[in-house]
Amino acid sequence: MKTSSRTAIIAGNWKMNYGPKEAASFAQEIVPELGKVVHHAHHVLCILCPPAISLAAVRDVLAAAAHPHIELGAQNMYFEEKGAFTGEISPGMVRELCNSVILGHSERRTYFGENDAMVNKKAHAALRHGLRPIVCIGENEHEHEAGQTKQIIHSQVRHSLANFTADQVNKVVIAYEPIWAIGTGNAATAEGAGKVIALIRQSYGEMYGPEAAQTLRILYGGSVTSSNIGEFLVHPDIDGALVGGASIKPDFVEIVRKTLATIGQ
Ligand code: PGA
Repeated sequence: MKTSSRTAIIAGNWKMNYGPKEAASFAQEIVPELGKVVHHAHHVLCILCPPAISLAAVRDVLAAAAHPHIELGAQNMYFEEKGAFTGEISPGMVRELCNSVILGHSERRTYFGENDAMVNKKAHAALRHGLRPIVCIGENEHEHEAGQTKQIIHSQVRHSLANFTADQVNKVVIAYEPIWAIGTGNAATAEGAGKVIALIRQSYGEMYGPEAAQTLRILYGGSVTSSNIGEFLVHPDIDGALVGGASIKPDFVEIVRKTLATIGQ
């Protein structure tokens, strides 16, 4: 059991899985179960992040269930307000349905050319619209093996999370996702992830002060399952998880159950 004043977050990144029909039926399957698990918990927040086209379908399931600890998040958005940006969705559109948005996921960075400057613009746009940005950072395998993790992470924090105002700094969530651990079944060790996450907290503190660093929630992501979530959560610096593959299975409920058991609720 650990004691932290920071509310744990378990976010499920469904990636490009489940169109509206499948998303609704999967949500109908897991939301009542999740509801039972989080019903009496005060220090956990579950965020379901289906594909953009399925957000409304999942919203309907969540609205009917009305569990205050289960929210909806998007996987991405553009930073402009509106206009000629074919295929994009704006922060205002996301805000109509969601409370959170994942930004700068490594798959966005790798396949769609996103960089720290764009991610920073998106984070600012999210905050302007009252959305909670979940900003992803992490080193790739080559950087990891070359011992460059520290510099890479420091630079990503500096640039992706720049220029927040005093009341914005506490609304940001960071997900540390080492790219070599995503979708590989080869999760980081809790000790390894915890060390990097402590560095992230330190960098954030250098930018925004010790109080902001203390309040900042940092999640681990990369091959999280119900079998390893407990190890991550006992680390004092790890405040939850961003879950990919296991979030589109009933195991997600088990992950949340283990989270509550680990944080002692
Ligand atoms: P994974 O994905 O849990 O399937 O490794 C995590 C993520 O990409 O957010």
